Amino acid sequence: MGNANKCSDRQATGASLSAYYNASQLRADAWNRVKHNTARLAKVSMRRAENERLRHAVEDDLRLLEPVESYWAFPGKGCMAHLWRLFDDQQHLALAQTAARINRALVNESYRVQLQRFGPERDTELGEETGDDEQTLIAHSRPYFEVLVVDTLSAQEEDHLRAGLRRMRREEDNLVYEVVIVPSFEDALIAVLFNHNIQACVIRYGFPFRSRHRLEVLTSYLEGVAESDLEDQPDRDRGPLLGAIIGKLRPEIDLYLVTDVSVEDIAGSISQKFRRVFYRQEDYLELHLSILRGVNARFEAPFFNALRTYARQPTGVFHALPISRGKSIVKSHWIQDMAQFYGINIFLAETSATSGGLDSLLYPSGPLKAAQEMAARAFGARHTFFVTNGTSTANKVVVQALVRPGDIVLVDRDCHKSHHYGMVLAGAHVRYLDSYPLDEYSMYGAVPLKEIKRALLEFRDAGQLDRIRLILLTNCTFDGVVYNVERVMEECLAIKPDLVFLWDEAWFAFARFVPTYRQRTAMAAAERLRDRYRSAEYRERWQAFKAAIDRADDEVLLTTRLLPDPDKVRVRVYSTQSTHKTLTTLRQGSMIHVNDQDFKAKSEETFREAYMTHTSTSPNYQILASLDIGRRQVELEGYELVQKQIEMAMVLRERVATHPLLRKYFRFLTIEDVIPADHRASGIETYYSPDTGWSRMEQAWAGDEFVLDPTRLTLYVGPTGVDGNTFKTKYLMDKFGIQVNKTSRNTVLFMTNIGTTRSSIAYLIEVLVKIAQQTDEHLADASPIERRMHERRVVSLCQELPPLPDFSRFHDAFRSSAVLGTSEGNMRKAYFLAYDADKVEYVELAEAVRQTAANRQLVSANFVTPYPPGFPILVPGQVISEGILAFVGKTDVKEIHGYAPEFGLRVFTEAALGELLRGQPMGTKAAATADD
Ligand SMILES: Cc1ncc(COP(=O)(O)O)c(C=O)c1O
Repeated sequence: MGNANKCSDRQATGASLSAYYNASQLRADAWNRVKHNTARLAKVSMRRAENERLRHAVEDDLRLLEPVESYWAFPGKGCMAHLWRLFDDQQHLALAQTAARINRALVNESYRVQLQRFGPERDTELGEETGDDEQTLIAHSRPYFEVLVVDTLSAQEEDHLRAGLRRMRREEDNLVYEVVIVPSFEDALIAVLFNHNIQACVIRYGFPFRSRHRLEVLTSYLEGVAESDLEDQPDRDRGPLLGAIIGKLRPEIDLYLVTDVSVEDIAGSISQKFRRVFYRQEDYLELHLSILRGVNARFEAPFFNALRTYARQPTGVFHALPISRGKSIVKSHWIQDMAQFYGINIFLAETSATSGGLDSLLYPSGPLKAAQEMAARAFGARHTFFVTNGTSTANKVVVQALVRPGDIVLVDRDCHKSHHYGMVLAGAHVRYLDSYPLDEYSMYGAVPLKEIKRALLEFRDAGQLDRIRLILLTNCTFDGVVYNVERVMEECLAIKPDLVFLWDEAWFAFARFVPTYRQRTAMAAAERLRDRYRSAEYRERWQAFKAAIDRADDEVLLTTRLLPDPDKVRVRVYSTQSTHKTLTTLRQGSMIHVNDQDFKAKSEETFREAYMTHTSTSPNYQILASLDIGRRQVELEGYELVQKQIEMAMVLRERVATHPLLRKYFRFLTIEDVIPADHRASGIETYYSPDTGWSRMEQAWAGDEFVLDPTRLTLYVGPTGVDGNTFKTKYLMDKFGIQVNKTSRNTVLFMTNIGTTRSSIAYLIEVLVKIAQQTDEHLADASPIERRMHERRVVSLCQELPPLPDFSRFHDAFRSSAVLGTSEGNMRKAYFLAYDADKVEYVELAEAVRQTAANRQLVSANFVTPYPPGFPILVPGQVISEGILAFVGKTDVKEIHGYAPEFGLRVFTEAALGELLRGQPMGTKAAATADD
């Protein structure tokens, strides 16, 4: 170990490394350079100056890697020392071979197998070729992870600890791990954020606070995480404090505390954070077994395993599922290709609750119940429910569970269509909330908090606050705008302390697994609020706030950060997630997560009924199994996968911003483009700029009203002269097989996901470069008239976009309390009124414009939804404004559901509206609900 100590003298210090988005990128690049430079050094004929230059370069990189590698088990200290020895002895050939092997093992991750074979006692052999096909080895080896130990140990003590735990390995262990030892509080935090292999952490006692490393790319992990006042905490509290912070950053990690204070004294108060507390632990077997048990608790996938076991059993099928066991296929003369394509397992696993042996989704009591409980743990919910027909259904379940006919719901105007239809089904009276528009890109942002508060105050001032039941917002939006969920809930609860929240997180299931994103998820925010309102410190804040805000008018309330009354507030939060959109799950696999303080008391029964209403009696068991095993994946590697996903997105942003040809025709919309400055207190405008490098997203995500999810990349393609939809179908899809989900008139949305690889990013760049080259060539050869036509198209796409219309209003015939001045509407009444054919008529667009100008109030009889942007610009009962008519007239969107230009707009007849107005006393709740 002498060499290991010697080489720690050679550590790099605070060189500016802002060229790298994160330390993983730096690590990969540095090893690559070491590989290339040592390979060149190994060539015999080389001029002395060149030799010197290369040696300097290798030395610099090894120095850089020295602190970086101290957070990983591979290649490990022994192997780094071996490299230094080869370098010092100028054994360039051996140096090059070792560096190449290490690099290769890191890139293809075969180190996970190599460490199992050789172990750290033979550090120098790590990176040796195994002789076997590495991918096969990886596939057949036991899952591998790393355990972090926080302690100040000498080199001998470190060896002793590693060897001690290694000796505990048994043949029957299904998992295998290596140990990473760090000497301080800060190093432990860097390690858990940098090293995604860490699944368990053993915190011992008597370690210092500060890290010795001051490498910017590493210490940047500590920003906003390790406050300096922590340094002053007594030694005795340092371990528990560290556990608490790690628990917040990576809640999935199992924590073990080893203490020299009497276990009985402390175990009670900190037992929630730690899986187990040991007293001066030297019992390696107990620790080893605890570590394996902890990780196995996440590895377990009860429903997937039950289904697999079921598939292996011989059964006779006498119920209504001919595909079960593949029977109807294998004996078929005509559909053999179906079995060949899918393989037999999927049919062996086809079953239903009534066929016995497996659990029932409608009445779970066995493995499905366990699987849902484990999902609740993974996603930080109090309860989780699996849904097998997408978030479209999950949304309807939640709305029906919470809303009675006549209840008022505040709804984000550009939410998914399932909510609008859900409102009709539930008989909710809807108060739409307008998002800020982004006219330049034909898309919407999200609803500003001020707008939400204004709506609540409107009802409070009209004495109608009691009727508001639920607020429904989309987090994050299709285009990646993310709310400050905690703040929105806190301020809304200050006005209405029992308000229920439904956050549509269809696109945000992955957000749970990295700390920056997690803080903006509904479940994490709900948990924080519950903690906060219990605390004495909050009570004090609230008293001070109450005194300051006494008798404030609406204008003051709109601009003041409001706090709810801790004695009245109830935290009631629901989130719906399309697990299938962002994590590993079969199509339509979704989840409903609940953190509702009154769930048991008020909503459990209604939730069950709503779930029964919308859930098929034949749910697809493959989808359920995939939800279960997808949960296993994120609990064990969600942190790694989401980190990489973000990294890929950042790399893509950087490449497009710095490529001279790409910059000519394309750019990814920046934070500044999508979020107006008054919603961005941090002032951060872009994730990457060629002039200033990377901005750290943490600062914006900690406080800004809205942030942009960097993994959703909106490419502005207007300068190519091709509209978004044509770009998607004719260029990306038909020519290059690239699929994208959404377009606007001048943009195309790319999403990275947990499966995105470096090569898929490289392919996309290559394709964009080709398209840019073709555009360049086409323009170079174009005649003057063709060029003018191109310019005309660019102007039309970039500058002549019809402004997106706001929600106008519900017609008085559908307003429940028009005389009180509140603006909610009864959509269901309008929706079903349109079932009477003689109450509706069609009015062509030009005629509609004329009649509106002549003061007729045209009222839509149905939903009108252009794709894009994909949400209704008209709902049943809504007055058709001039702005909406102008938008319909100008838009060149081909697909508008609910509107056929040859027929015109479907509206209510004047007679039908007149009849309603005459017959309906208004202004009371009784009147409002009588029609429901
Ligand atoms: C915000 C939002 N919510 C809900 C849904 C519906 O989800 P699913 O496709 O899982 O039914 C979508 C689908 O795109 C969506 O964008």
